[in-house]
Amino acid sequence: MTDLSTVIAGVTFPNGLMNASGALCVTQEELEALGASEAGAIVTKSMTPQARQGNPEPRYFSFTGGSINSMGLPNLGYPVYAKLIPSLRRFSKPVIASLAGLQPDDFLEGARALNEARPDLVEVNLSCPNIPGKPQIGYDFEESERLLEKLGDILTIPFGVKLPPYFDPIHHQKIAQVLQRVNIAFVTMINSVGNGLVVDPERERVVIKPKGGFGGLGGRIIKPVALANVRALWNIWGDRIPIIGTGGVENGVDVFEHILCGASAVQVGTVLVEEGCRVFARLARELAEILIRKGYGSLMACRGKLQEMS
Ligand code: DHB
Repeated sequence: MTDLSTVIAGVTFPNGLMNASGALCVTQEELEALGASEAGAIVTKSMTPQARQGNPEPRYFSFTGGSINSMGLPNLGYPVYAKLIPSLRRFSKPVIASLAGLQPDDFLEGARALNEARPDLVEVNLSCPNIPGKPQIGYDFEESERLLEKLGDILTIPFGVKLPPYFDPIHHQKIAQVLQRVNIAFVTMINSVGNGLVVDPERERVVIKPKGGFGGLGGRIIKPVALANVRALWNIWGDRIPIIGTGGVENGVDVFEHILCGASAVQVGTVLVEEGCRVFARLARELAEILIRKGYGSLMACRGKLQEMS
C-alpha cells in the first residue's frame, strides 16, 4: 500500500489531493460532493462579508492547455459558510476555509466568524486578481505583513496564505521573510496567473466578459510557473513551513512533480472543473502508480527530492 497521506500544520490529511479554492466549492451541494469524493480535504470558495453574485458571464473559459476566469468572488458570505463548516466536518477530512475580503477590515471580520465555525485550517487569500480596481494584496509586501499580523492576533486556528505567482527571486525572498515574521503555518501557491488574455481569432474577440477579457490563467500552461514558485520557497525553507502546490495538475505525474519540488500536498483547479469530483480517485491511482514504480513508499518520502545538475 502506498501511503498518500500528508500532514500540514499539525493536521493529518487522508491523502494530499484536494480542490483548489474556487473550483466546485461555492455551494453547500458542491462542498458536500467534495466531502463524499476521494479528495483529501474540502476547501471552500474564498468568502467575503456578504454573499456576492460575482462578475457578469461568460466569466470562465477553458481551452487546450488551460483556462481563464474572472469570476469576481461569487460566494455565500461569511455567515453562511460559518454555519456550514461544522457540518462539513462529518466527512472526516480536513476543512479549509478560504478567507478573502474587499478591504482589510473584511478579513478581520471573517477571522472572527471562522474562529466560531472552527475549520481545521484557514487559507488567507492574498491573491485574487479579478476584482476591478483591487490589486492583489500579495504583491504588496508591507500591506500583506500588516494584514497577516492583525489576523494572527485574532485567529485561534492555524492559518496559511494563498499566494500569487512571483517571477523574481527577490520577491520570493521578501515574501518568505514576511511569512516567517508572522509565523505562517503553511503556504498555498500559486493562485492563477493574473490578468492574462485569451483571444478568439475567428470572432476577433475576447473569450470572457469582465475586465475587457483579462482574467486569471490556470491549468497546464501555468505548471512551470507553479513548480518554480513551490521550489523557490522550498529552497528557502526546506521542510520548516509546509507548501501546498497548485497549478497545472492534470495527472499523477503532475502531482509527483509538485511533491518533488517540495509540496506536501496539491490542489486541483481547472481539471476539477472539467472532470468533476471523480478526478481525485484517478489522481490518487495515478500517483500511487508512479510512487510504486519509483520505489517510494509514501508521498512524503519524495517531498523536495528534485535534483539539480552538478
Ligand atoms: C476569484 C479568483 C481568484 O483567483 C481568487 O483567488 C479569488 C477569487 C474570483 O474571481 O472569484
